[in-house]
Amino acid sequence: MATGSRLDTCLAEAVAAEPGLKDTAAVIAAIAEAATDISEVIGRGALGGDLAATGAHNSDGDVQKALDVIAHERVTAALRTAPVAEVASEEAEGVMDLDPGAPLAVAIDPLDGSSNIGVNMAVGTIFGIRPVVREEGNPIASFTTPGRAQIAAGFVTYGPATALVLTLGHGTQVYVLDREARAFRLTHAALDVPEAAREYAINASNARHWDLPVKAFIEDCLRGAEGPRDKDFNMRWLGSLVADAQRVLMRGGVFLYPGDGRKGYAQGRLRLLYEAAPIAMLMEQAGAGATDGERRILDIAATGIHERVPLVFGSVEEVACVATYYDGRNHAAGRSPLFGQRGLMRS
Ligand code: AHG
Ligand code: MN
Ligand code: MN
Repeated sequence: MATGSRLDTCLAEAVAAEPGLKDTAAVIAAIAEAATDISEVIGRGALGGDLAATGAHNSDGDVQKALDVIAHERVTAALRTAPVAEVASEEAEGVMDLDPGAPLAVAIDPLDGSSNIGVNMAVGTIFGIRPVVREEGNPIASFTTPGRAQIAAGFVTYGPATALVLTLGHGTQVYVLDREARAFRLTHAALDVPEAAREYAINASNARHWDLPVKAFIEDCLRGAEGPRDKDFNMRWLGSLVADAQRVLMRGGVFLYPGDGRKGYAQGRLRLLYEAAPIAMLMEQAGAGATDGERRILDIAATGIHERVPLVFGSVEEVACVATYYDGRNHAAGRSPLFGQRGLMRS
């Protein structure tokens, strides 16, 4: 696929090479069309009304903003034109039934990073495409297979540029929206995430609630070159999973949204089906990793469509390093001089 190629050309090439991707390609094309419209709405900001106006609560208890609903309605309308039988959306309580004879099921976060709506920060749309599974007595059977069942996954970042980050199981690509042509064009044919990193992303305001392994990992990052990591780190936290994920895919780093002691946050904040699993496929296809701190995200099967999961992803050395704090292999953790004093992270 040549840089600058249009998404439809790249999808046609992928289907020519693997005809079984025909229906998946149609779903991606429909989502890309919806994302182009959503990008235009977001690009008008407050000129198009108050996109942050709040309404009802969604199934996860989050307040729904106008743009959450606009994005949900536009993406699901697009999916009704594609070979999709079922949709699990953050903004719908249960599984939505579309074309009963279609072969595909789609998990979507129509608008990711809602807290950034209205303050001109990057937001996104996340999706995972998997085969329909029919199982007597299990109305969500298509969504209770592990994430490795996904055929394709992607997200759109509505940032300075509108970018589509996509995998069909053969590497991770980046396309940028050419607004004049109203078409996404290929800019990166095969992302390759650096194995080592010097940047971590975590919401540090939750530090007192973290489990000890996370406290110890972050404390050792904070100790920099004087500590057991022997290198200094930088920190970023954008409040939009897609924006943090795109940065990690482009230049490496590690992102953590762990479970913590707050009520309802034992499994963190991010949802397995329409946030963690699509991001995990994109990361692995770009040579990075994604776990819940210890287990590979793509091996985890959901039992509910809004189920949360702790999420660690990024440069493989960092994801592996986090795991050593969980299983006690990292004996430096907890014995650092900072722990001796009332360290930053001591509970
Ligand atoms: P959503 O807007 O779809 O609910 O997702 C928001 C998520 C994710 O985008 C981001 O990384 C995280 O929430 C930020 O959580 P905190 O506000 O707790 O930092
Ligand atoms: Mn989200
Ligand atoms: Mn959302």
